[in-house]
Amino acid sequence: MKTAVCPGSFDPVTNGHLDIIKRTSKMVDKVIVAVLYNPGKNPLFTLEEKIDLLKEATKDIPNVEIDCFSGLLVDYVKQKNIDFIVKGLRAVSDFEYELQMALMNKKLNHEVETMFMMTSGEYSYLSSSIVKEVWKFDGCIDGLVPEVVKKALHKKFK
Ligand code: PNS
Repeated sequence: MKTAVCPGSFDPVTNGHLDIIKRTSKMVDKVIVAVLYNPGKNPLFTLEEKIDLLKEATKDIPNVEIDCFSGLLVDYVKQKNIDFIVKGLRAVSDFEYELQMALMNKKLNHEVETMFMMTSGEYSYLSSSIVKEVWKFDGCIDGLVPEVVKKALHKKFK
């Protein structure tokens, strides 16, 4: 049984994240979507809200489990017997940071592998931050986030 983890801040989950989660779910038996608990980052959504939004957004994918973690990702990976980490790559700008994280994770635990999946072209410019920015100023975010996230953003900002 192969298990992958898609870790992230998910503040909030976007259609770009969902694209990576769905495509990963077709390649493994189980995908754990793990939300980093990091209140220091001053997130818009609480951990519980992020988890609820992810649960709703992934409810039609049978082999997805939503969880959270704090501390080092490699420790979580070991504790949950996860086979590999999956990260989405959007543009070249992601590469340097992701390479740094993957290499640090490898240094911390040489058994932990990171796999990279290219984002679908239509989401290559998308991020949680840019969605929040556009929505804050009443821009259109149709097709960029699941409906449940749109409603949650509406509640936060209006
Ligand atoms: O969605 P994000 O913010 O790009 O996700 C980044 C995340 C959560 C994957 C990364 O910050 C992480 O793994 N944090 C846990 C702490 C850790 O293990 N740091 C060492 C790796 S450099």
